[in-house]
Amino acid sequence: MLRPMTGGDREQVIGLIKATRFFLPDEIKVAEELIDIYLNQPEQQDYKIEVVEDQTGKVAGYITYGPTPLTEGTWDLYWIAVSPEVQSQGYGRLLVRHLEDEVKENGGRLVIIETSSQPKYLPTRKFYEKLGYREMARIPDFYRSGDDRVIFGKYLREKE
Ligand SMILES: CC(C)(COP(=O)(O)OP(=O)(O)OC[C@H]1O[C@@H](n2cnc3c(N)ncnc32)[C@H](O)[C@@H]1OP(=O)(O)O)[C@@H](O)C(=O)NCCC(=O)NCCS
Repeated sequence: MLRPMTGGDREQVIGLIKATRFFLPDEIKVAEELIDIYLNQPEQQDYKIEVVEDQTGKVAGYITYGPTPLTEGTWDLYWIAVSPEVQSQGYGRLLVRHLEDEVKENGGRLVIIETSSQPKYLPTRKFYEKLGYREMARIPDFYRSGDDRVIFGKYLREKE
């Protein structure tokens, strides 16, 4: 089941972000900040967060995304994570497909995802490519020396 995140999910979501062992402490802090903006400022329009539950009702994964300011129809996928226990079972795909449906329903046309060129992110880049995203730009040495910012994107009306 896929549904908007609620306050009751907060601990589970932060727990699964940490459990991926993928993110640095500063990155986890930023993820938490976005979650708290979403939960505590119901009037805000910048971030949407959805969770997907497994068959037992446990939160299996979550996604944060929103319209890119000052654009017409461009959206950013800010964050996605699936619990390590249930990765490779289709939850990530479900979350991204849902984001794409939402973007289309809101008149959006382009989804952008920024990621890192570190080898650690290779599986993540493969995941995005599998879902039809393509590398559109790259800024060398962006995050740190030897770590590029890789920008993936997908025009939603184009054929995959
Ligand atoms: C990236 C991530 C969200 C993918 O979620 P997931 O539920 O494991 O992925 P899915 O099972 O939905 O996979 C969808 C497709 O991507 C492919 N894929 C997923 N993980 C992959 C990997 N490690 N290597 C290659 N392909 C992969 C799958 O083969 C699948 O295609 P298929 O259905 O044709 O086999 C999840 O692995 C994760 O949380 N990773 C750590 C955190 C992260 O990298 N977040 C993104 C950075 S913000």
